[in-house]
Amino acid sequence: PPLYIITPTYKRPEQVAEITRLGYTLKHIPNIFWLVIEDATLQTPQLTRQLKRIGIPFEHLTAPMPNKFKKNKVKPRGVSNRNRGLDWIRANATDGVFYFADDDNTYDLQIFHEMRYTKKVSMWPVGLVTKYGLSSPIVRKGKLDGFYDGWIGGRKYPVDMAGFAVNVQFFLSRPKAEMPYKPGYEEDGFLKSLAPLNNTEIELLASQCTEVLTWHTQTKKNQPASNLDLKKYNGTNLVKLRD
Ligand code: UGA
Ligand code: MN
Repeated sequence: PPLYIITPTYKRPEQVAEITRLGYTLKHIPNIFWLVIEDATLQTPQLTRQLKRIGIPFEHLTAPMPNKFKKNKVKPRGVSNRNRGLDWIRANATDGVFYFADDDNTYDLQIFHEMRYTKKVSMWPVGLVTKYGLSSPIVRKGKLDGFYDGWIGGRKYPVDMAGFAVNVQFFLSRPKAEMPYKPGYEEDGFLKSLAPLNNTEIELLASQCTEVLTWHTQTKKNQPASNLDLKKYNGTNLVKLRD
């Protein structure tokens, strides 16, 4: 059964670079389908072009953040995209497992091999999250016994987006499951929407959560490029380079 990777992305100077790095990681994984969903009304052509180059099966979709959230100080980043991915799964997938992979994070290949066998929901540690440097399920005597995270915020599931995967058939059996537009509570809200789900049913990967196989990394923001002086460079390679 396939592994569906749901990646939210948005147009910015780093976009194609991020997608290139993630894409060549995913290229090592057999039987994968990549849902790349842009927070935009129109696809960025440079992104479509790069997705074709990378050469793994993909779908390039768009799902703009609703306008009412755009003026918020803290925006619900990647939520419209992920919900669009979930709609696609409902319409097109019948089995397998899906995973929300942000475009800027870092993934050890081992986690993809492990998450593929998720029966309902699986979880594992994520490195570089908040002041604790780590977000992880706490495992005691082989059982899930709480969560370690620098910010609990009253959440039932204080986990990072990079730290869990979901079985498609299990998801399809939860017709109301979706991600809320609630900054900080996206993971928690989505996992709660999968209820009923008992803690004993959560599968603990990465050697019972003793290894870090995913990292919540962040890329330094780059300045948007300045305008090209067309009078000076018209007819040169620079015009194409800056497409
Ligand atoms: C953290 C979480 O890991 C995200 O899953 C969560 O959506 C976000 O915080 C949040 O709470 O808002 P962080 O690294 O802070 O993520 O955020 P970004 O990496 O900037 O954004 C998360 C994903 O959404 C990325 O894949 C990014 O490409 C995408 N995004 C970001 C959009 O689609 N639109 C935006 O305007 C910003
Ligand atoms: Mn990020």
